[in-house]
Amino acid sequence: MQDLINDIAAAMAKAEQRGKVADYIPELGHVDPQQFAISLATVDGNVYSAGCATTPFSIQSISKVFTLTIALGQMGDSLWSKVGREPSGDPFNSIVQLEHESGKPRNPFINAGAIAVVDAIMMGHEPKETLGEILSFVRYVADDDCICFDPAVAASEMAHRDRNASLAHFMKAFGHLRHDVDKVLGTYFHQCAIAMSCEQLAHAGLFLASDGINKPSDMRVVAPQRARRINSLMMMCGHYDASGEFAFRVGLPGKSGVGGGILAIAPGHGSIAVWSPGLDSYGNSLLGTQALEMFVQRTGWSVF
Ligand code: DON
Repeated sequence: MQDLINDIAAAMAKAEQRGKVADYIPELGHVDPQQFAISLATVDGNVYSAGCATTPFSIQSISKVFTLTIALGQMGDSLWSKVGREPSGDPFNSIVQLEHESGKPRNPFINAGAIAVVDAIMMGHEPKETLGEILSFVRYVADDDCICFDPAVAASEMAHRDRNASLAHFMKAFGHLRHDVDKVLGTYFHQCAIAMSCEQLAHAGLFLASDGINKPSDMRVVAPQRARRINSLMMMCGHYDASGEFAFRVGLPGKSGVGGGILAIAPGHGSIAVWSPGLDSYGNSLLGTQALEMFVQRTGWSVF
């Protein structure tokens, strides 16, 4: 397996088209687009990595997988009265469906849906308490207490929050947010500003590859049915209006972030994290997707 991971990193090092680094969050615009990393954590306890797999990067929307898991743990299926579970077919920051659908976001992975999920898990608490809970959960599933927020990225998002603020105020007007909009946004931006390496991220996703069991501690994080459902949402909605394309090319549940990371889950096999900061026109990592496509072609681990 290490040979395959090395082959993928070598192929990506030769790529001429590397996509465009997100700059609508100015702090992310400074990241070197030449970087590439891949890490595979298997359910039997092995880790295979290549490239800069211990370099932390901004996980951005990949964090939405963790907040969704926390929210389902807190309130179970009643979460679905606040956020839907259908693909949107629209860009991650789109507002159009909110108007037609009474301010209820289509799914927990578009920005509006993730903001609604954060509002749900705040439960009347201050942002610091909610952020403490999010960070504890991520550190637990990654089995690494060194994972932190990048305050410069969070501040950059807060300073350029107009688009997300519009989504949040629009939802609030329909009665879908309970808390103060700026407190919800501040919490959401910090969640997105969690910095993790591919090795940490692959480890953190492993519970979704092993029917809800955290490896190697063998502690249950979620029930098997919940792990399957989170995976199904990642498959249908994890790449926004390119989710169909990702399912077609890769065939694994996956969640992307504008920091250039993708977490992909191969149920029963392992969790794969890739990172390359250059994005395609949908806001998903260009080389990260190519790397996962190559990985699945060679392993046959597609769920189809
Ligand atoms: O709210 C935002 O726009 C970012 N914090 C997260 C967006 C994101 O990662 C979309 N994913 N590809």
